Amino acid sequence: MYTIKNSDIAKRYNVSNSTVTRWISLAEEGKNNLQLYKVKGKVRILDNAYNHAEIARLVQEGKKYRSNIVCKRVSAQKELYDLLSEEDIIDIIRDIEQRKTINSKYAYIGEGAKLWDQAFSLDLRQSSSETVRLIQELTGFLFYTMALKPEEPINIVDLGSGNGMAIKPIIQKLMEERVIKKYIALDISKQVTQITRQNISRSFPSLEILTYQRDFEKSNFTKIILENKAIDDVPNLIFHLGNILCQYKDRVRVLKNIQNGMSAEDLLVIDFLLDNEDNYFNLAYSKSDLVNKLHLWIPRMLGIDVTKCEQKIESEPKFGFNIKYLILDKDYEISFDLFGKRRVFELFSGEKLILWKRNLLTLETFLDEADRADLQVVNLSIEKNGNSALAICRIKTT
Ligand SMILES: C[S@@+](CC[C@H](N)C(=O)[O-])C[C@H]1O[C@@H](n2cnc3c(N)ncnc32)[C@H](O)[C@@H]1O
Repeated sequence: MYTIKNSDIAKRYNVSNSTVTRWISLAEEGKNNLQLYKVKGKVRILDNAYNHAEIARLVQEGKKYRSNIVCKRVSAQKELYDLLSEEDIIDIIRDIEQRKTINSKYAYIGEGAKLWDQAFSLDLRQSSSETVRLIQELTGFLFYTMALKPEEPINIVDLGSGNGMAIKPIIQKLMEERVIKKYIALDISKQVTQITRQNISRSFPSLEILTYQRDFEKSNFTKIILENKAIDDVPNLIFHLGNILCQYKDRVRVLKNIQNGMSAEDLLVIDFLLDNEDNYFNLAYSKSDLVNKLHLWIPRMLGIDVTKCEQKIESEPKFGFNIKYLILDKDYEISFDLFGKRRVFELFSGEKLILWKRNLLTLETFLDEADRADLQVVNLSIEKNGNSALAICRIKTT
């Protein structure tokens, strides 16, 4: 039994991958006549004359349908090309086509950095001050575990620095007890690192600050961390705060990317939200106006009329996540200029476009994933309110 790949159909009939996926869904509901076959859990279209005739009919029907209904044809805004690499843009298109998702990490780029800065200034994240307090309490333990010699300085590495306001009181506390040689901030957003630099240098004018743009999901940053270690010859205290771990598609990969840059004397301090009732049903943070603006900013750049789309936030305790999505108000044809070629993809009225997904973790899940990333958890604390956990890890030694 031969089947045809969705991408081959898309190419041959000059339609988008999402159109083919949609035809398959409609066929499963009995709304067209395509003959399907399941291969390794995936539903595919059978490669036979009957199906090719049906596809040709669907293409014609699509054209007629499109000319009769409202379809907004837009081009991605120029600013997007200035802010993102072509690789990132392809990533966004692929995520939308395959998972109907816009990865929320892109929200912090460009204007998003300012929106986050404003949102954080209002201190919407109830848990942040509690995390900071916990880390301040654990300072002695951190130094003891790093086996620091008296007077031995450290570097602070801040992964996903935001506007730097979360780490500020932690630097303050660490500085009371140790010399900090460098503060090194890494973030996917260049604009975020600029805000971090301003805020940190205002508070600590004599502290050396380095900033780098990196996507932790895609690349490891071993070179940056080890290069600085070679220059300074001091241990790194690495922070990954703000429950960023809960947003990743592949957490083990990101943890492994971090682990790759660590040496035996370094520690990683990381927080994450727990799988508890409060986190499923207290969604004030993601519903707030500023955070909402942040989540809507990439869809706006793509030309989606976000104010006309219905917006929903749902909790899925059975599957361990919260999700925010838009229900599209009409069909869209969005075109991009990539590598000198025009690429168009379609979205359909009523489709859900996910803007934000937050995974809530059990302690067992975290411990298992840390272990798979070759990290040893030396301390695991739960915050007073019971909503998030803070882990201190070092690299596993054999
Ligand atoms: C929720 S904020 C947290 C900021 C800060 N750590 C805090 O606790 O306030 C998330 C930060 O992580 C960055 N970020 C998100 N995903 C990222 C990724 N894949 N790679 C690098 N940075 C990322 C964002 O740009 C943003 O600055």
